[in-house]
Amino acid sequence: MSERILTGIKPTGQLTLGNYIGVLRNLAKMSERGECIFFIADLHALTLPIEPETLRQNSIDLASFYLAAGLDPNKVTLFLQSSVSEHAELNAILQNYLYFGELSRMTQFKDKSSKMNESAIGLGLFAYPVLMASDIVLYDTDIVPVGEDQIQHVEITRDLVNRFNNRYGKVLKMPKYEVRKVGARIMSLSDPTVKMSKSDPKGDIFLKDDMKTVRKKIMSAVTDTGSEVKYDPENKPGISNLLTIYAAMSDKSIEEAEKDFVGKRYGEFKTAVADVVIKELEPFQQRYQEIVNNKSYEKVLKDGANKAKAIAKETLKRVHDAVGLLNI
Ligand code: TYM
Repeated sequence: MSERILTGIKPTGQLTLGNYIGVLRNLAKMSERGECIFFIADLHALTLPIEPETLRQNSIDLASFYLAAGLDPNKVTLFLQSSVSEHAELNAILQNYLYFGELSRMTQFKDKSSKMNESAIGLGLFAYPVLMASDIVLYDTDIVPVGEDQIQHVEITRDLVNRFNNRYGKVLKMPKYEVRKVGARIMSLSDPTVKMSKSDPKGDIFLKDDMKTVRKKIMSAVTDTGSEVKYDPENKPGISNLLTIYAAMSDKSIEEAEKDFVGKRYGEFKTAVADVVIKELEPFQQRYQEIVNNKSYEKVLKDGANKAKAIAKETLKRVHDAVGLLNI
């Protein structure tokens, strides 16, 4: 049997070059390798305050970006998480098998909640990994392609699968994460010691930025002292991040990328990084715009939800049986 590959993206904020390099741009290739299930994690988007209209728009954007990344809707299953109610139903069961202590230790929860007033931290933000684990095991997933920041969430899913199967027998499939060798963690252009994330307008390249802005942002990215274009994340985080972007976007290794810039100055190097990003992003953006205009995502999402539901129902039934819920 071929591998089942699943991933999701949250429709919060605008998608960044980090999302693109970390995951989006690799998905079309994945679909040649196994059975692909990709979704818009719209329920997850509610874990932090978001305007209804923004959520609607972001979801449409994200569906269109997925398709613009070259996914063939006949080959992959693409849908909205909220269209397949089994995600929430499985969540209601699995929440009893992840515990307060381990959830409190999740880096993403600690990062996000530490910036908030305690009275504004919703239960959904805390329990985020339970829903994510439900997303994954619902489809008997083998491989979860993600960026580095999501590894911990896949690891806790594996803990849950172990715990659940020890208690009830071999009910859930054990998933594995997969990160890119180059580009699993793209850093902010304004502060290369922190991750590029959807909520950092200064250091982000957004997938909807016009090409002039993209070039400007890259040309003014923070660099480091010295003049050599060398990969050294500790001492040269800015240059190393740009090298990673260049390597990932031109499908080269870091060593090959370094060779392209021996004896070159920072200015020349940045121009080359901007060129390689724009060369790919410009046609990608055009495809995205066409899809938004002709609304071809609507049918894809509907068909995708039906296909996903058929698989999800079977898993949920198996879990019901295992824990003693009557399937009547
Ligand atoms: P999200 O929406 O924050 O990010 C989507 C994907 O992009 C990756 N990513 C990055 N990769 C490289 N460099 C960066 N700077 C960067 N920033 C983000 C993320 O690692 C992610 O793979 N919890 C998930 C969504 C989700 C999910 C799932 C994923 C919900 N259920 C089940 C896999 C399986 C999230 O918030 O990703």
